Amino acid sequence: MMLPFESYSPTRLIMSPEAQLQSGAQIVQHGGSRVLIHFGGGSVIRSGLLETVRASLTDSGLSFVELGGVKPNPRAALVYEGIELCKREKIDYVLAVGGGSVLDSAKAIAIGACYEGDFWDLFGRGITPKQRLGLGTIITLPATGSEASNSSVIKNDELDIKRGLRSDLNRPDFSLINPKLTYTLSPWQIACGASDIMSHVMERYFTPTEGVGLTDRLCEAVLKTVIDETPAALADRKQYDVQANLFWSSTVAHIGWLGMGRAEDWSAHALEHELSGHYDTAHGAGLAALYPAWLTHILAKDDKTAIRISQFSERVLGVPLDFADPRKTAEAGIQRLSQIYRSWGLPANLEELGIPHEDLPRLAKLAKKRPDGFAGSFCPLNEADFLAIYELAWNWQ
Ligand code: NZQ
Ligand code: ZN
Repeated sequence: MMLPFESYSPTRLIMSPEAQLQSGAQIVQHGGSRVLIHFGGGSVIRSGLLETVRASLTDSGLSFVELGGVKPNPRAALVYEGIELCKREKIDYVLAVGGGSVLDSAKAIAIGACYEGDFWDLFGRGITPKQRLGLGTIITLPATGSEASNSSVIKNDELDIKRGLRSDLNRPDFSLINPKLTYTLSPWQIACGASDIMSHVMERYFTPTEGVGLTDRLCEAVLKTVIDETPAALADRKQYDVQANLFWSSTVAHIGWLGMGRAEDWSAHALEHELSGHYDTAHGAGLAALYPAWLTHILAKDDKTAIRISQFSERVLGVPLDFADPRKTAEAGIQRLSQIYRSWGLPANLEELGIPHEDLPRLAKLAKKRPDGFAGSFCPLNEADFLAIYELAWNWQ
């Protein structure tokens, strides 16, 4: 039965070939006056985007300070620095300019600056944030959906852990999306982004909830779009419509709409966050190296999963349906998915990703689970399942 649901997506989304020119006006419209511009390791300097943003803010009469240096898999240490800077400079608005890591770091700063204690209390220690500074974004990489999602994921090097905070406060006031800003991405970044977009849909598609035909079809549309557009993006990065469709897919995949009325899973993300958290691997690459093994393990463990995995294989991947044995359709679909990732240049397994085999038991233990020891809803998984999936993924062919 479709589950009761509530939807809240307050972010003003503006997609246009010159969206970044609106940054100053949007901040004014949302009540900001003194701004922290937050960015990463330099891509926005090299592309000239940062200079454009500075001019837009100045034209709108805004004062600002800057904090760059966000690393992929953003670090708690820079969030602490950002929070101190905001307090010292009496900042009331944070503008993130970059990929998902920059956005997540900005979200943590905007929330942490309004929290009296250690901001890390809010990441997995059960404390709920109550308010944040103003928050806007200019996103430069179609992947995480962080431009509208309720989530921020931060790596804490001191505690050697990567954890997320889910809260509607993480949803920005506005996000400016210019597909042309992706023209400087490498093929690797495009492929990792596409894998992450697909995973956000699959975390919702693989559900035990029945009677959710509309969201099934919406999920399938996004997955098919990403599968169609990614090879085109890899072949020629400077195609506006291709990048626009990938960007819109990334937003739709993680804004929350595709999970409405259905139980979501998220165990594949729990498995992946241990990889990028400990070895600094790219999030989308880790997901690609895990998904075929995750599906194979679940298919073997629980007969009920065969129908949905075969539906995915037929509707999304075009595998002919074997009515007599849906399991065969599902197995062929898993192989097809693995081939797609490989054709995009992503790693086929954890060994290729550089994960040491001897670490797998430790990762399976650490990966996030509920207090009952399980993660996921499609087929709840415990530590032994996690280890079996890591083992299968380690030398998947
Ligand atoms: O740091 P700079 O110099 O800006 O370079 C970045 C970075 O090296 C570069 N880049 C970004 N846009 C570019 C560009 N290079 C050239 N041209 C551009 N237009 O790309 C590299 C990777 O950037 P990053 O922001 O790390 O990638 P992504 O957007 O994939 O974000 C990954 C992070 O988001 C988290 C992941 O765990 C990971 O930490 N996630 C966040 C989610 C959310 N907030 O909702 C959900 C996801 O499931 C995910 O967990
Ligand atoms: Zn993800």
